Amino acid sequence: MTYVVTDNCIQCKHTECVDICPADAFREGKNFIVIDPDECVDCGLCVPECPEEAIFAESELTTDDEHFLELNAELAKEWPLILEKLPPIEGYQSWSGKPNKLAHLER
Ligand code: F3S
Repeated sequence: MTYVVTDNCIQCKHTECVDICPADAFREGKNFIVIDPDECVDCGLCVPECPEEAIFAESELTTDDEHFLELNAELAKEWPLILEKLPPIEGYQSWSGKPNKLAHLER
């Protein structure tokens, strides 16, 4: 199993999840972050850290969010490792809680 970052992270990217991860499993894009399923140790520590409630266990993904499992795995192969918390994206407040942000994902 793995944990998966979903839509709520897009355009927010608070990165609190990065600091708590004991497995260095996060990979960073411009306006989204993903978990490398090959590195995730299924601890779940990142889940309560995310202010956007964007992280779910693979087994708890809704049908609408299931495609994020594949997307995390795909982008984890392309994006660089992130090891420390960074400031959130400027203007994240206007994106927080908005549904269906996938069209705004920058690869
Ligand atoms: Fe994204 Fe939440 Fe981490 S917004 S960067 S999954 S703390």
